[in-house]
Amino acid sequence: MSVIEKFAAMDYGPAPEDPKETLVWLDGYGRKFGHFIGGTWKAPRDGKYFETKDPSTGEKLADVAQGSAVDVDAAVKAARKALPGWQALRPHDRAKLLYALARQVQKHSRRLAVLETIDNGKPIRESRDIDIPLVARHFYYHAGWAQLLEQEFPGYEACGVVGQIIPWNFPLLMLAWKIAPALATGNSVVLKPAEYTPLTALAFAEICREVGLPGGVVNIVTGDGTTGEALVKHAGVDKIAFTGSTEVGRAIRRATAGSAKKLSLELGGKSPYVVFEDADLDSAVEGLVDGIWFNQGQVCCAGSRLLMQESIAEKLTRKLQARMSTLRVGAPLDKGIDIGAIVAQVQLERIDRLVKQGVAEGATCWQPEVLMPERGLYYKPTLLSNVHPTSIVAQQEIFGPVLAAMTFRTPREAVELANNTVYGLAASVWSESVNVSLQVAAQLKAGVVWVNSTNLFDAACGFGGYRESGFGREGGREGLLEYLEPAWFQNAPALGNGGKREKGGAVEVASPAIDRTVKLYIGGKQARPDSGYSLEIRGKKGELLGESPLGNRKDIRNAVEAARKAEAWGKTTAHNRAQVLYYVAENLSQRGEEIMKRLAAAVGKKQAAEEVRASVDRLFSYAAWADKFDGAVHNPPMRNVSIAMNEAIGTVGVICPTDMPLLGFFSLVLPLLSAGNTVVAVPSEAYPLIAADVYQVLETSDLPGGALNIVPGRATELLKVLAEHDDLDAVWCYGNAEMCAMAKALSAGNLKQVWTNEARGIDFLNARQGEGRWFLEHAYQAKNIWVPYGE
Ligand code: NAI
Repeated sequence: MSVIEKFAAMDYGPAPEDPKETLVWLDGYGRKFGHFIGGTWKAPRDGKYFETKDPSTGEKLADVAQGSAVDVDAAVKAARKALPGWQALRPHDRAKLLYALARQVQKHSRRLAVLETIDNGKPIRESRDIDIPLVARHFYYHAGWAQLLEQEFPGYEACGVVGQIIPWNFPLLMLAWKIAPALATGNSVVLKPAEYTPLTALAFAEICREVGLPGGVVNIVTGDGTTGEALVKHAGVDKIAFTGSTEVGRAIRRATAGSAKKLSLELGGKSPYVVFEDADLDSAVEGLVDGIWFNQGQVCCAGSRLLMQESIAEKLTRKLQARMSTLRVGAPLDKGIDIGAIVAQVQLERIDRLVKQGVAEGATCWQPEVLMPERGLYYKPTLLSNVHPTSIVAQQEIFGPVLAAMTFRTPREAVELANNTVYGLAASVWSESVNVSLQVAAQLKAGVVWVNSTNLFDAACGFGGYRESGFGREGGREGLLEYLEPAWFQNAPALGNGGKREKGGAVEVASPAIDRTVKLYIGGKQARPDSGYSLEIRGKKGELLGESPLGNRKDIRNAVEAARKAEAWGKTTAHNRAQVLYYVAENLSQRGEEIMKRLAAAVGKKQAAEEVRASVDRLFSYAAWADKFDGAVHNPPMRNVSIAMNEAIGTVGVICPTDMPLLGFFSLVLPLLSAGNTVVAVPSEAYPLIAADVYQVLETSDLPGGALNIVPGRATELLKVLAEHDDLDAVWCYGNAEMCAMAKALSAGNLKQVWTNEARGIDFLNARQGEGRWFLEHAYQAKNIWVPYGE
């Protein structure tokens, strides 16, 4: 072919990256890797290894140790041993080490990129230009937090030893997302990479040694799901951070339920990619190339559901098909390749199976006529159109290069369709109208929304899901909080059975019985209990204090329904919420005397007086916070701003403390209301009669009906109903160890967020423990809205 002919055809020639240096590096280890424990390489105790292969050729790359429970135990012990020394370092010294890790990643960036590509199958263009630079960025950014830790998080301490389990789609990047914040906050780590892609984690272990990270601060144990399971179950681990499938996330939620292990889960997604008729269609098509064909679609936040406004659907589909026809599928080490290999045979089969099922359910399948490699694991870029919103391909994560397209007519319908999923990880919105795009972004239930862009990530911008996409954030200030806890909470005394504090003021009982009809409070109205039963509430000496309605499953259902309907509370202005809470304070203060007298019959005069005084105080605090717990605007290193908005979680069930009937109730309910959540609260089981005092105060205030619902009853029984309820977004449970475990285990169904006292006592009378940021951090979830600027 002549130069002129070549120029006219504009065909790509092969542009292979030379893997020689990386292969030499592998040979240096004899292509056989043990675990990295306590700063040295250790052979697996039972001598078992597994193969890791190049999915683009099927060739074996190396043997890697299969971690057993014994290996995991050795790693956890090494991490524990390293902890005191690591924490004794000055923040500046830890910052220097994180900085060195960033530097070292950059120095070896090409080798790491090639290693990632041959182990995972992703195009070298992506590992070289996206994965590895972001890895370095994460360590730089968190070196900064290590430096500022004491100034910015006074009173907080590291969780301790953290177990981290990561998937195969972004092996080194997920490692960085996990290890950087854990180290910056003074934790030590045991990390288990995915079985298909362990090599870059092992290369990172070598880097830890090179920079002089103290032995045991980072431990890498390789293996499959059973290794992960052993790590999750190990009693010496204080926190688990997991990224992977929702199914395994659910299993981990259950497995950690009976422990005080802190948990963050970054799970699957089925993210909508919404294109309005006024969008720049060419940009939207280019965005889709990144949205669904980036990393072969094996991306948790892939824009896998294309929602097109009907008026432009045909035109957009044509443009999309034309662009798909130019995508190049092939050897991942070729620098001109768009789509590389699928990670493993099972994953390829899964993609194929789901696509066939989608077609059987009525979808039309279109694939371009592109050249496909003769061997290796590849899947053509695929467009499924006419997909019904209930079809499996619209609902399940495919994790492959497959786009499911649907249409909508109005922005409202777009939002409904977009939110019609159990997931809530990410979304893209395309419109040239800033009003439409931001209005829609605000309504989408997703942790990240990209406006006129997609798949943008940065260490400064929190990433994580709503709903069954998990909880917790990675990146940003909020990501650090996943690895920290207030020091007082770590040292708080254990609660005895029945949820009463073991230490603390003795309950002195005075006063005679009070006869009042106490009811449930649902949707702003007093209601009789469905059961028709009441509980006698007695004082310490057995005297009758009153009768409390016995709420049941049906009452909770009604309360949740009422709370859902009242979600406009979260959309009112923060100023408005503050005004309402101030007004509740005013009314509580006016009735303070009589409430105190009644409460004194249960908890004694002194405590009753303190509880009423502190409750008014607390109402003022959360009224003050309502318009001050602001988000942030991040400046990631691109032409974007990312608006981190703190949003209410939604509808939350609350089990209130037993021994502080009034103050305990307000201490948990107020941060949630202040944040704009609606609440179903189960008041103190020991003195549920407080419900009547509270709702009488509410009735004279302006809190909208349904924003706060109160269902007295047996705490454990009602906790079960709340935790299992599929339409609740979170449960807060203050109780003993059994109740905390139950809250976590039973909430695994819809993976609602769970926050408990870990069976420890909180002194609510002490404002440093009983109120403030720590509560609010659990009452909000961050949504990052990325907005580009410039032409
Ligand atoms: P997976 O969730 O099984 O694997 C992720 C990690 O968890 C791996 O390191 C694995 O060894 C570990 N693991 C597995 N079982 C475990 C257990 N019981 N306890 C502790 N750790 C355990 O994901 P898999 O099987 O590799 O992929 C299956 C599907 O999951 C994919 O097709 C995709 O739909 C989804 N997935 C989603 C990811 C995401 O980032 N959202 C990442 C990986 C997979």
